[in-house]
Amino acid sequence: SNQFCDAGAGYGEPACGISSSSSPSKILIKGGTVVNAHKQEVADVYVEDGIIVAVKPNIKVGDHVTVLDATGKFVMPGGIDPHTHLSFEFMSTETVDDFFSGQAAALAGGTTMHIDFVIPVDGSLTAGFEAYEKKAKKSCMDYGFHMAVTKWDEVVSKEMEIMVKEKGINSFKFFLAYKGALMINDELLLEGFKKCKSLGALAMVHAENGDAVYEGQKRMIELGITGPGGHALSRPALLEGEATSRAIRLAGFVNTPLYVVHVMSIDAVEEIARARKKGQRVIGEPVAAGLALDDSGIWDPDFVTAAKYVMSPPIRASGHDKALQAALSTGVLQLVGTDHCSFNSTQKALGIDDFRKIPNGVNGIEERMHLVWDIMVESGQISVTDYVRVTSTECARIFNIYPRKGAISPGSDADIIILNPNATVEITAKSHHARSDTNVYEGRRGKGKVEVTIAGGRIVWENDELKVVRGSGKYVELPPFSYLYDGIDKAEAKYLSSLQAPVKRFKSTA
Ligand code: URP
Ligand code: ZN
Ligand code: ZN
Ligand code: ZN
Repeated sequence: SNQFCDAGAGYGEPACGISSSSSPSKILIKGGTVVNAHKQEVADVYVEDGIIVAVKPNIKVGDHVTVLDATGKFVMPGGIDPHTHLSFEFMSTETVDDFFSGQAAALAGGTTMHIDFVIPVDGSLTAGFEAYEKKAKKSCMDYGFHMAVTKWDEVVSKEMEIMVKEKGINSFKFFLAYKGALMINDELLLEGFKKCKSLGALAMVHAENGDAVYEGQKRMIELGITGPGGHALSRPALLEGEATSRAIRLAGFVNTPLYVVHVMSIDAVEEIARARKKGQRVIGEPVAAGLALDDSGIWDPDFVTAAKYVMSPPIRASGHDKALQAALSTGVLQLVGTDHCSFNSTQKALGIDDFRKIPNGVNGIEERMHLVWDIMVESGQISVTDYVRVTSTECARIFNIYPRKGAISPGSDADIIILNPNATVEITAKSHHARSDTNVYEGRRGKGKVEVTIAGGRIVWENDELKVVRGSGKYVELPPFSYLYDGIDKAEAKYLSSLQAPVKRFKSTA
């Protein structure tokens, strides 16, 4: 497993005789069904120097153009994974996939861009950003950054401004869980929300009540439930619903848009649905694991098997998965991430005697595109155009890089996949390209296979072979004031004018 060409590794002779210069700069994709979020059509796609130049039927080209036949297949924007953790130092260890291995795996699965979470160093956003800049130097595909906010003072407030105005960050994540580590309180959450609003940045939340989770964990340990199943029991959906509701209501109070990451339960979906129905700007992100799995894995008697399913919020009982799928198909949830945060079985074994020490996180960056196709499109729950929307376009819109990303359109980056709906894929740790020795989707077979991935105008995945170049991935700056901010000041004006009467009344009686 894990074998692929690393053309840019700098070993002198590149692995498999492939070098970056041998990759074509001109590519013609012929005869496929080109799918965008708003329409599909049979057309050719012509790419030159990393950019899509033309999309129309019967494009004629000269020599020195690599021609790919896509007849009977779908030509779609490469996936954008809005939620990953590569080289993440977490729970006394570090995720096994770094920016090279994780991205290589992503490319093999049809994802051509991801947005990773910068974690501050001792609360410092600046130090965190510098650390992630270094980690990402080995990138072989394009990436952007979100940033976590883990403490509050004037320095952090100023740093948020610098991140947005100078560093290309337009979103900040607040953890309502992981007490004693990343968790923040409501006072900080409100300060953070206000700052996000003033900067046109998108506030994101990990919605679980961390104080109650801490209490739930104590309960399990007292009962002697120390195995992986205790993880699920200690943090029920109720606590996800509470934190989702609280975050949504506080974002509403501040009138700032909110993005709820890794929505795992019916409880959280109901809170999001309720707020959206009232017109609040709330985005909900299910992750592949939530759509595809239930809690049966975490109760496996074998520790190695059970521990690989430990993530937060937990993968819920059967029924929540179907509800998340339905919410995605009806637009209550808008885009799919993975929360790829992968650990080896040796790392998961840190919690062999105590589930609280099992590093939290599952794989998915390589599997997401295939899983969403099989679970949502193959089952008839969403259309192919909706597939493009939930795996790519909506992410590009929310993080304000559409149509550079998320579209097969002249002028867009040449991040393209060719998917064969008649081929099947089997997921195994033996054959996956990520580093972990396990896979939460082990043995799963599904219809629809990404046969070709083009990233930045280079064919990086073809004939089941990866040809990736270390250092070729670009940092994509994400500008503030996405569409989620359109017209939000009008709602604000209405609110402020509603305060005029009480202000007058107060003054006349004072
Ligand atoms: O278990 C998880 N989700 N690990 C990654 C960190 C996070 O909360 O997103
Ligand atoms: Zn090779
Ligand atoms: Zn989280
Ligand atoms: Zn995460």
